[in-house]
Amino acid sequence: MKELLHALTPGDADWRIANQLDPLRLPAHVAIIMDGNGRWAKQRNYPRIIGHRAGVNVVGDIVETCAQLGLEALTLYAFSVENWKRPRLEVEGLWRLLRFYLRKELPKMMRHGIQLMAIGRIESLPESVQAELQDVIGKTANNRGMRLNLAINYSGRTELVDAVNSMLENARDEGNLSALEITEEAISEHLYTAGQKDPDLLIRTSGEMRVSNFLLWQIAYSELYVTETLWPDFSRRDLLEAICEYQSRDRRFGGLTRSPSPAPAVEAQELLLLDDEGLELPLAQLG
Ligand code: FPP
Repeated sequence: MKELLHALTPGDADWRIANQLDPLRLPAHVAIIMDGNGRWAKQRNYPRIIGHRAGVNVVGDIVETCAQLGLEALTLYAFSVENWKRPRLEVEGLWRLLRFYLRKELPKMMRHGIQLMAIGRIESLPESVQAELQDVIGKTANNRGMRLNLAINYSGRTELVDAVNSMLENARDEGNLSALEITEEAISEHLYTAGQKDPDLLIRTSGEMRVSNFLLWQIAYSELYVTETLWPDFSRRDLLEAICEYQSRDRRFGGLTRSPSPAPAVEAQELLLLDDEGLELPLAQLG
């Protein structure tokens, strides 16, 4: 957080929003569905790939801001398993952009101590892309700052399928298939994101109200933030505003409010129970 404040110009809008944030309640893990590149290009009569290229620049800025904020992890949805359905030229353009991004951003990753990881069925990517990814993953492996997960050829459902198959394979290898017990912890430990915290905040740009097969297991209790802004227009300020909004939410994880409030005195509570027909009966009447 301090790093970000140092990088900002005192008094400007980003600086003011950053100063409103509570540094003790930052999300540890932010995940982003970067949507709207195509629409951004269409609005300008450009080919779709120009929208993706503009999107790559934004990726660089947002990754840097998240590292300066001191987040533990940022996960970006760069290419879904379903995206193979797009025209071949667009898909190939995306691979070229990914390679360009990796080459361009490696120095920044090293400067901020970012550790890159790829999540998804990486083995199905073109070999040249796999090679460059592995190169940057290797070079950043000893960095101890923010973890940057690029979700590439990723789908939440295939991740779950891969996790279950990996559990079965381990059990078979160890000869204890009949004793295999599936627990929530076991599933989490076999996901691509094993060992990482679940996202606290999931941001989606361009206004679509969908999760699009992204981190289906991990976002069970994430706060959702959808903005109309298209990804190529998403700025540092938009990110800070999303985090501000996140900090105003009351996260209950299925329980009651976490904000400290004194427990009500027993006599002040409404002592009502439900009878068999769902009618509310004051305790006194139960004799
Ligand atoms: C969705 O926009 C975006 C994608 C399918 C790809 C996201 C890719 C980038 C931001 C660039 C490459 C990423 C990295 C990490 C280098 P869309 O094309 O679905 O937009 P639309 O819904 O407006 O058509």
